[in-house]
Amino acid sequence: MFRTHTCGELRLSDTGRHVILSGWVQRIRDKGSLIWIDLRDRYGITQLMLEEGKTTPALIEQVRQLGREFVIRVEGLVVERISKNPQLATGDIEIEPHSIELLNKSKLPPFTIEDMTDGGEELRMKYRYLDLRRNPLKENLLLRHKLALETRTYLDALGFIEIETPYLIKSTPEGARDFVVPSRMNPGEFYALPQSPQTFKQLLMVSGFDRYFQIVRCFRDEDLRADRQPEFTQIDCEMAFVEQDEILNTFEGMVRFLFKKVKGIDIEPFIHMDYAAAMRLYGTDKPDLRFGMSFVELTDLAQGKGFGVFDGAELVVGINASGCASFSRKQIDALTDFVKRPQIGAKGLFYVRYNEDGSLKSSADKFFSQHDLQQWVERCDAKPGDLLLILSGATHTTLKQLNELRLEMGNLLGLRDPNHFKPLWVTDFPLLEWDEETQRFYAMHHPFTSPNQKDIPMLDTNPAEVRANAYDMVINGVEIGGGSIRIHNRQLQKKMFELLGFTDEEAQQQFGFLMNAFEYGAPPHGGIALGFDRLTALLAGFDSIRDFIAFPKNNSGRDVMIDSPSAIAPQQLAELQLEIRKISLP
Ligand code: AMO
Repeated sequence: MFRTHTCGELRLSDTGRHVILSGWVQRIRDKGSLIWIDLRDRYGITQLMLEEGKTTPALIEQVRQLGREFVIRVEGLVVERISKNPQLATGDIEIEPHSIELLNKSKLPPFTIEDMTDGGEELRMKYRYLDLRRNPLKENLLLRHKLALETRTYLDALGFIEIETPYLIKSTPEGARDFVVPSRMNPGEFYALPQSPQTFKQLLMVSGFDRYFQIVRCFRDEDLRADRQPEFTQIDCEMAFVEQDEILNTFEGMVRFLFKKVKGIDIEPFIHMDYAAAMRLYGTDKPDLRFGMSFVELTDLAQGKGFGVFDGAELVVGINASGCASFSRKQIDALTDFVKRPQIGAKGLFYVRYNEDGSLKSSADKFFSQHDLQQWVERCDAKPGDLLLILSGATHTTLKQLNELRLEMGNLLGLRDPNHFKPLWVTDFPLLEWDEETQRFYAMHHPFTSPNQKDIPMLDTNPAEVRANAYDMVINGVEIGGGSIRIHNRQLQKKMFELLGFTDEEAQQQFGFLMNAFEYGAPPHGGIALGFDRLTALLAGFDSIRDFIAFPKNNSGRDVMIDSPSAIAPQQLAELQLEIRKISLP
């Protein structure tokens, strides 16, 4: 028998018991006559104590041969500790070992396996299996497990059934880039790994499984960021005979349920905001509503006063940084540098200081009188002590830049508390997005998204203005999920492909299976997918999803532990009838 208990289990009430524990040696403290060992497993740490005179010399000698991360089996007596450790669940007791069996040695680990490790990022990725022994990562995976379990409980109770869909599917040009897999049995042909099970879940609706879900891996060959991995997991769902409201309620309910079950908190009801308002007020389709500072348009007040920067701008827009009039010149310069960084690209930052004495000071007092500025602060609902931060330029770019500045101010002022959750639904996204480079429309969500019923007539006259029956779930500025009511009518789907510039043949070739299925009684349907990694990280209060995935890729899409991607053997290439040639792309 390897163990009677785990290393996290024994309490004061167990004193006097003979127990067997197995685990890893986390730390040995050798004070000569006294030796302590921290024995660790997944469940916790238990202290072993050896004492000259009490413990046999042979056992003490044996213990002195142990090293960090050695795997041992210990038999011993549970005793009450003299100096208790309230930080540790097992801190009231320790074990006096009778015997220790070495189960396996360990090389010296390349970094310390403690909550605060000395290992750098790359090293820990290379030895991920060791990093996963550390509490913070272990807790993350436990949280992930719990969330998956509770997700299944919630959806099952509502009659959703989990159905697996294939991973070897067909490449389609929409969305992100596909990862492709060559087929040996069909030389020259490729499967693609799914970016999502989108078309399959719609086919399942045609099959009559009116409530589907799947906790499913998705693959996208896109540039990586903190909240993006090339393979990630979705809670993917689809429902038939539903309208938008029912989907939003069901999944708002799910997220509330998960927060309650896993974090024990009741999150606030979701705010509903349409896309146009989100863009106008926050310059982004995923506003962080943990704090205010919504945008105020000032174009009409700012123009016509001879200030060239504003006069030539399409938009002048500002935020009110409440209580920030006391910002020093240096602080404002730092903000100016922030917005001028190439990633943001603003030409400059204009400010109006509303001093405590009621006087107003701006970046260009020569052009604006106190009366002018008074109108600005009124519009921004500012009070003495506040600071207006203003950007100007082309509408779209300026809104985007001010969004970055608003978030930066939120960070600076400590307004983005990771333990405070502000959920919202963003609705009424545009159906289409125009791409200047390729001179064509792309589906903003995906080509199966239904236009808003009211806007259907505009498909012919003004497609850019057509709104979609699509929605995103946003929490704390993170896009947690997205979905839509789908097109279930073949004619409308055909029209959509036309707008996206597909010829009949192309549409038939790529999506014929779906359009054909729509001819056999497709029910009205819609759904959503939540980013499971993002949701887990958010619940734990983190931005980066990497440490919520057991074996993630690094920023260059590499798994440095298994050294992948890697070349394959000539024999494998030959079987696939593939040849490697370097081609330089334009
Ligand atoms: P969408 O593309 O919006 O929708 O994806 C849904 C959610 O998946 C998460 N996500 C990611 N998470 C980590 N790494 C990535 N690379 C990544 N890409 C996306 C996000 C996102 O909100 N089939 C549709 C859903 C539907 O219409 O039902 C879809 O995939 O949290």
